[in-house]
Amino acid sequence: MTNVTVIGSQWGDEGKGKIVDWLSSRADTVVRFQGGHNAGHTLVIDGTEYKLSLLPSGIVRKGKMSVIGNGVVVDPNALLDEIDRVAKKGVEISPENLKLADNAHLILPVHQAVDKAFEAARGKSSIGTTGRGIGPTYEDKVARRGIRVCDLRDKDLLKEKVERLMVHHNALLKGLGAEEITPESVMEGLNKISDEILSFACPVWKILDEAKAKGQRILFEGAQGFMLDVDHGTYPFVTSSNTVSAQAATGSGVGPKTAGYVLGITKAYTTRVGSGPFPTELEDNTGQRLGERGHEFGTVTGRKRRCGWFDAVLVRQAIKTGGIDGIALTKLDVLDGFEEIKICTGYKLDGETLDYFPAGQAEQARVEPIYETIDGWSDTTYGARSWKDLPAAAIKYVRRVEELIEAPVALLSTSPERDDTILVHDPFQ
Ligand code: IMP
Repeated sequence: MTNVTVIGSQWGDEGKGKIVDWLSSRADTVVRFQGGHNAGHTLVIDGTEYKLSLLPSGIVRKGKMSVIGNGVVVDPNALLDEIDRVAKKGVEISPENLKLADNAHLILPVHQAVDKAFEAARGKSSIGTTGRGIGPTYEDKVARRGIRVCDLRDKDLLKEKVERLMVHHNALLKGLGAEEITPESVMEGLNKISDEILSFACPVWKILDEAKAKGQRILFEGAQGFMLDVDHGTYPFVTSSNTVSAQAATGSGVGPKTAGYVLGITKAYTTRVGSGPFPTELEDNTGQRLGERGHEFGTVTGRKRRCGWFDAVLVRQAIKTGGIDGIALTKLDVLDGFEEIKICTGYKLDGETLDYFPAGQAEQARVEPIYETIDGWSDTTYGARSWKDLPAAAIKYVRRVEELIEAPVALLSTSPERDDTILVHDPFQ
């Protein structure tokens, strides 16, 4: 029996929600291992809609263990609000089925203030962050001045740490012309939530070790996508965590072999929110049409997503560096009705041809896509549940994608409905 790690293989928003939900129904434990409440997805189960940001998807299913790993940055207020919101829909959430890593770092209101102040100061070259304080919290973690969940247990030490932290951040806020925040108000906020947060806290690596020993199935649930990875993505227009599969191990305290089968969720075209390079972006009617057909608006911020053709070079890079074994291809139906469909197979840069996406910011902005055009299809693929329900041209498109990205399609999703999925290879086997 194997475990499964799900990651996004583009810029996030690949439709992970539905696939993760399907997989989580078959897992015993679901683990978040990076990111924070910048992520967002909607699950629809038996007609009830759940919007999750921080809570692992398994939470909405009875009998599953949900784990928030040490690699996640946790806004305690956002977490408690989300627990409250989801519990109101009849979901039981208690320290029995939700475990929070006691060594995870906390997002404080000051991180959000600093995130927003820096974005404003960057002006036209802003990153387009979600404003949730993700980046500044990871910065504090690496700078060894962060506040962790376990710090809530020792009020004297916590006070000392908060005072030191605020010397740093108030200097920044002052320099950026933003309002300073007193350490007392930070402590007051933390005191209000600490008992409740601590009730979920534990060494989650032990829980996972026990799950492994019992031969249980673990699903590692990634957020964002490969191109937003702080090392491998379109730096600096990235999020502040590693989004590749290796992070499943570091971000939850299991060894690298525990990640199991790595499933890359991949949209049949490309989208991105926020700023930064996007070689196949379409700022014309075709891009507009993809956005409208695909309902491309951000779940967290409501921002309109930028849209473009499928970029096989980027996804191939995600496969190689992200350790992806197979993909779940989503939203194929959005391409229904296009006479012609383009796939990016390489780039032109200063007269040369590239078969990979270069690391330099200026080069990433300058590459021009080389396209291959293939025939579209007029029949619908919406709701298809087997290959024979698909038009021949759509199958040809899928096969060409597999060839170019050098990885197989394990799952094909043809609508937001759970059962509208073609299963080629079960990732859990
Ligand atoms: P941050 O994660 O809020 O710091 O934002 C950094 C970049 O990642 C911005 O371009 C965001 O739009 C993008 N981003 C963060 N979370 C998500 C997500 O869940 N989906 C898509 N883009 C995201």
